Amino acid sequence: MLLDCDTGIDDALAIITAGRAPGVDLVGIGCTWGNIDVDQAVRNSHHLLTLLGRTDIPVARGAAGPLDGSPPVYSPHVHGRDGAGNVGAVDHVPQVSPESAAEQLLRLSREHEGILHIVAVGPLTNLALALETDPDLAGRVAHVTIMGGAALSPGNVTAAAEANIFHDPEAAAIVFAAPWPMTMVGLDVTMRSLITEKHRARLAAGGSVARHCAAILDHYFDFYTGVTGRRCAGNHDALAVAVAAGLVQATLSPVVHVEVDTSDGPSRGSTVADLRGMWADHPPVAGARHRVVLQTSPGFEDTMIALILTADG
Ligand code: RIB
Ligand code: CA
Repeated sequence: MLLDCDTGIDDALAIITAGRAPGVDLVGIGCTWGNIDVDQAVRNSHHLLTLLGRTDIPVARGAAGPLDGSPPVYSPHVHGRDGAGNVGAVDHVPQVSPESAAEQLLRLSREHEGILHIVAVGPLTNLALALETDPDLAGRVAHVTIMGGAALSPGNVTAAAEANIFHDPEAAAIVFAAPWPMTMVGLDVTMRSLITEKHRARLAAGGSVARHCAAILDHYFDFYTGVTGRRCAGNHDALAVAVAAGLVQATLSPVVHVEVDTSDGPSRGSTVADLRGMWADHPPVAGARHRVVLQTSPGFEDTMIALILTADG
């Protein structure tokens, strides 16, 4: 698995899940701008790998802004100024790969041809850059799973758009159009996989990795209280890792056509999933490549907490 992330709070849980999940060989982390600037994403990723004792996993720096050259917009109100709830290791000096995230992705796609699973949980800029450099990439990758989009749910940054897609719709359009099999783990399911104060209390009583997670979640819950009315948060990015790793079953996930809206109207950055088959129990759609997860098996949040607690040995 190659994880591409904009390492904020829920990305941190995704990194730990990928680093600890049985059967997952995490071969690299690519960082992108998104929740915070790309250098902070690199610092946070490497800090987490250090906590996990997994600095053997390379961390590559990727795009610093969206594909169209517009200035990056970050989310400190959600993830903190440091992307770690303002309690992160701002002085941590990361070990950074000499290659860019797109170069790392291309190299790993050759070294693990036919079996590499990309899990992308931030804006899709790095994946689009890699495809632009080498369109044959799509044929070498086994699968791409993204946290992003919303098929039947409202958006979270605008009424229609989810953050990862909205932050770089042009990149997302390239990634959705590439001829690789894709799974979209969007707000339809991630806003139903909630981490609560109960989970946070269990983490707070754990070892150093777990306590770090409890500390950063405090800020995340502050923001989400304004969204859901209670102290909990959507477990966005770790759920995408869990679907990719088979820790969670996608119990309803039709394979359909999905397009990204790159217009300048109110639905810019939305994912338009053709779910007209829903009235007929989702018959197969000729030529479709986008598996849209609409329902998952319950209980992943507890599995994830257990994985994090074992990270401390
Ligand atoms: O919309 C949720 C997504 O946006 C998550 O990946 C979160 O980390 C942010 O990047
Ligand atoms: Ca993310």
